[in-house]
Amino acid sequence: MQSKKTHGLDVTSTVFQANSEKWTFQDDTVRKWVEDRLDGDVLNACAGHTELRHSGEIHRNDVNKERKAHTHHNLKHMSDKVNLSFDTVVYDPPWSVFQVNDKYEGRGQDTIKQSTLMAESIDDMLNVGGKVLGFGYTIDMIPSSMDYDLTEIAVFTIPGPGKDFFGSVHQKTNTKLTQF
Ligand SMILES: C[S@@+](CC[C@H](N)C(=O)[O-])C[C@H]1O[C@@H](n2cnc3c(N)ncnc32)[C@H](O)[C@@H]1O
Repeated sequence: MQSKKTHGLDVTSTVFQANSEKWTFQDDTVRKWVEDRLDGDVLNACAGHTELRHSGEIHRNDVNKERKAHTHHNLKHMSDKVNLSFDTVVYDPPWSVFQVNDKYEGRGQDTIKQSTLMAESIDDMLNVGGKVLGFGYTIDMIPSSMDYDLTEIAVFTIPGPGKDFFGSVHQKTNTKLTQF
């Protein structure tokens, strides 16, 4: 059987103009895009600085203890440390090694190199049918080997020398045996 990748995927894609800010959700366009997609209990897994608006609960996590957050776990270990589940996970890790050093005081090298461990930890905490809202220079926030559908892509174009980036929505489709 051929994979979805070899067939190509029809995914809703929208282009937005945004600005390059130190914190991703400081830009009004990006912030609106993510806030419009928050549903149920939310984990902001690499919360950073910006506080999102949502009618429900948002659990903020950031490995940096100086960030305002409920917990300060390294995301890759978080699912082993907490007994929580969510309907939406906002996943906005550092996007490159350069950005880690330039903007986040060197925190997050492992986040980039161990992206599969991060995705597995997210998966352990996400309810079936839930969504991962990812941000970065890639839409592969969730490895294609995991049971998710990529349902939406946003392209955020940055005028001038800044780099464009993506928002992506992955919806969890799998039902592990342990959930029966
Ligand atoms: C791109 S910033 C998030 C910006 C946030 N969305 C905002 O708009 O304010 C990435 C954040 O991830 C945190 N971080 C990096 N690696 C992490 C990890 N492994 N687990 C949890 N947080 C991590 C950094 O401390 C930083 O605050």
